[in-house]
Amino acid sequence: MTLQNLSKILDKYESQLGSINVQQFELLKGLPFYDWKASFVENVAQKTSCSFNHAIGLPKKNGQEFPLFDYEQLVFDTLQKHKHVWIKKATGLGITEFILRYIAWLCLKDNTLRGSQMCIVTGPRIELAITLIDRMKGLFHELGATFDSKETVIELNGVHIEAYPSHHLDSMRGLTNISFIYLDEADFFPPGQQTDARSVSERYIAKSNPWIVMVSTPNAPEGLFDKIEREPENTCLYKRLFLDYSYGLDKIYTREEIEKAKASPSFEREYNLKYLGKVGNVFHTLDIEAAICTQKEGQEMMDWSTSTMVGRSMGIDVAWGGTSKFAIVITQYRNNRVEVFYAESFEKPQMNEIISHIMQLKQRHHITKIYVDGANPEVIRELKNRIGEYHDYHGWLTEEQIWSLRSSNSWQIIPVNFQKRHREMLQWTYTLLSKRFIKLHPSLQKLIVSLRTAIVSDDWKLDKQQTSHHDILDSLRLSLCNYELPKNNP
Ligand SMILES: Nc1ncnc2c1ncn2[C@@H]1O[C@H](COP(=O)(O)OP(=O)(O)OP(=O)(O)O)[C@@H](O)[C@H]1O
Ligand SMILES: [Mg+2]
Repeated sequence: MTLQNLSKILDKYESQLGSINVQQFELLKGLPFYDWKASFVENVAQKTSCSFNHAIGLPKKNGQEFPLFDYEQLVFDTLQKHKHVWIKKATGLGITEFILRYIAWLCLKDNTLRGSQMCIVTGPRIELAITLIDRMKGLFHELGATFDSKETVIELNGVHIEAYPSHHLDSMRGLTNISFIYLDEADFFPPGQQTDARSVSERYIAKSNPWIVMVSTPNAPEGLFDKIEREPENTCLYKRLFLDYSYGLDKIYTREEIEKAKASPSFEREYNLKYLGKVGNVFHTLDIEAAICTQKEGQEMMDWSTSTMVGRSMGIDVAWGGTSKFAIVITQYRNNRVEVFYAESFEKPQMNEIISHIMQLKQRHHITKIYVDGANPEVIRELKNRIGEYHDYHGWLTEEQIWSLRSSNSWQIIPVNFQKRHREMLQWTYTLLSKRFIKLHPSLQKLIVSLRTAIVSDDWKLDKQQTSHHDILDSLRLSLCNYELPKNNP
């Protein structure tokens, strides 16, 4: 071998190792991840290299060192036994920190993973990918190590670890020997990227059987995490762990911190594992809470829901597949309030089945007004046919004339130009809710979540990606076309 060749090889090794020196690596080799039996006091006192985590330095919060906690031991034991792990967790429990340490330990404890690749998948912003790699490099600061690899890459003992934002998974596809995939805050990837990240990751099971670790605070209903959570135990690929805030009480969180957090409307999602979506910017939490009636009031609402003394209206948002659902909402006007007692959505329904269902609801609740998104003439025609209503209105009436018919008694089935009217319908829903004219049956969880998560842009256009169950909110808006404010409204 020529001297030139030797120097090339050395250069290559040096770039793989960053500037962490081999002796320091040797010190970390063979160390257990953590000494789980030692108490907190012992752990902090014994700063010697009795474990990997002591050697690199225990995690810190507000400048103070912390031990690893029992719930982290649970995650550790699970990762030792299962290669595919799904963790739904409270925010701030320290799971990102834990997984980064676990990954680093796997690379350095021996040479078995040398030559393999590890992938960290983050949300769509590149800064997130950079931050995680930066945190990982930071684990070795106390050892005096610095790294000269690019911002999204760290090389540890011949293992190439790279972070990928969720919209750039293409470069993750062609790898040959992946040993670990970590999806951080995966429930917050945009919907298409959630599916993509999952399928790209799971495709590697057949190739190199990597660990796949999915971690997230819950986001919205029907997202990636909700779907995996609902998979039956016997077919779910993942070992599932649920770590709510109580695991971290008096450990990573103080009781005061949790009491403070409880005041936030997002507490139940961020700390208590509920899929509530991000708090929206359309309706105020207090208005929504005020609208939800008690069980007793709900019962009374239902008792009246078949009476012929009360006027009712139905809103229908038509969809036959894709990511949208066919949604139906029914409201009634009683005691000066608009009461919502039915709100359901259906995935890919059959035309004749859903029309029959609508007709049954119409009969049972004596509904005399049905508002349908006008972009669906086939449904409108069918409904009008069923009740013998004239439907050849095209060319005879302008959109304005049809819109003005909405609260008259001329038609039962009323097409609404949703494209054109969606903003004013949303503003109208907002007005009715904020003036406390709406009452919601407490069982209507999908509708309640949809109001809580509704997000609009500056011009009142509903963001359908971020608003959970947006189809149900669309049907509510349609149904509310029937009402006007009482003359003496406040
Ligand atoms: N035992 C511990 N385990 C993990 N992190 C700890 C521990 N003790 C203190 N910490 C510190 O707490 C912080 C935990 O933040 P981290 O980002 O890992 O939490 P997370 O569970 O991923 O929360 P998030 O919901 O914000 O993503 C880090 O700064 C870490 O150094
Ligand atoms: Mg995290």
